[in-house]
Amino acid sequence: MQKLRIKDGCDHYPGYLDRRVQTELLSDIRDIIEQAPLYRPQMPRTGKPFSVMMTNCGPLGWVADKSGYRYQPHHPETEANWPPIPARLMDFWRSLTRYESPPEACLINYYAANARMGMHRDEDETDFNAPIVSLSLGDSAIFKIGGLTRGGPSQSVKLNSGDALIMAGPGRMLYHGVSRVLGGTSSLLKEGGRINLTLRRVGA
Ligand code: SIN
Ligand code: FE2
Repeated sequence: MQKLRIKDGCDHYPGYLDRRVQTELLSDIRDIIEQAPLYRPQMPRTGKPFSVMMTNCGPLGWVADKSGYRYQPHHPETEANWPPIPARLMDFWRSLTRYESPPEACLINYYAANARMGMHRDEDETDFNAPIVSLSLGDSAIFKIGGLTRGGPSQSVKLNSGDALIMAGPGRMLYHGVSRVLGGTSSLLKEGGRINLTLRRVGA
């Protein structure tokens, strides 16, 4: 397994999931989306819509609306509890992180052709000791990884379908975002676009 050190605490595993496993994982994600449909989050205060669509699985899910960012056990529109994290994803978390506790939240982001994600830190959790695992499916994306403060220089990493990226330890609080999705680079999603899965522990 190839492992590229992007920065201290940020590792990239190109091709972590082979095509067969990507297809199986995608089928798990499609089942989740049937139960917990993708919805369009809004920026706190302004209510400006995100360009990505989101849903979650796990005991907790990350949501964004006019009142802020938070974790909650239920879907904001259906109000049903999020579906469980598929066993396959739990296995990837264990093998990639060797972390003793399981993830509590899996954010599912869908990027259509023009979607992007501004630079941010994942900071709505209580437990910053646990790693963050990101898995990509579908079209490739330009992932940006910066430093511990906003606005500094950033590096670009191309994330392809099947790639894993881990932010842990000194990398846990790095600023990151997605500047662009490269349409037509993968045949995995028949509708095109990109799915990113982010596994996290939330903490007490
Ligand atoms: C995120 O940071 O929420 C998503 C990152 C990605 O899509 O690769
Ligand atoms: Fe993030």
